[in-house]
Amino acid sequence: MKSNIALIGFMGTGKTAVGRVLADRLSMQFIELDALIEQRAGKTIPEIFTQDGEIAFRELEIEATRDVAEKENTVVACGGGVVLNQINIDRLRKHSVIVYLTASPEAILKRTLSDKNERPLLVAEDKAGEVKKLLEFRQPFYERAADITVDTSGLDVAGVVEKIITRLKENESYH
Ligand code: S3P
Repeated sequence: MKSNIALIGFMGTGKTAVGRVLADRLSMQFIELDALIEQRAGKTIPEIFTQDGEIAFRELEIEATRDVAEKENTVVACGGGVVLNQINIDRLRKHSVIVYLTASPEAILKRTLSDKNERPLLVAEDKAGEVKKLLEFRQPFYERAADITVDTSGLDVAGVVEKIITRLKENESYH
């Protein structure tokens, strides 16, 4: 039986906000992978990207995922790119049901539009084009990793949390 829940999905699909409320509802611990990476590196994600580059960030992400994957009774909100390295998914899968949050490109664009530097991969002239391109490339990675897929369209955080809880009850590997 798996006692953890790992939330995956593109930037702006609500992993962090949903993860917090979900953990609260199920009396589980909550960990945001990006926050753990920042804490360990002593700098922000944008600083890691600009000073050290994306590859260095991915290495930190692999280390943080490895450690978090061993926890129990924990909801983990992963960064959007966690699926890019299969080792992360293999490790998470051992103790976590993997829940994939989806949203339309329009909703993602709307939710991420207000961030200036928060998401280094979306700092682009043509942000809509960038979201579309990245989404298309990543979709198969998310789909392959997912145990459960939850469409967040038209739902607020509480609505997404309820939907996840319903789907978890139907999932045999989660207790
Ligand atoms: C990334 C997503 C970000 C963060 C980093 C890279 C990605 O997390 O890990 O900027 O590659 O999709 P969020 O999905 O929480 O924005």
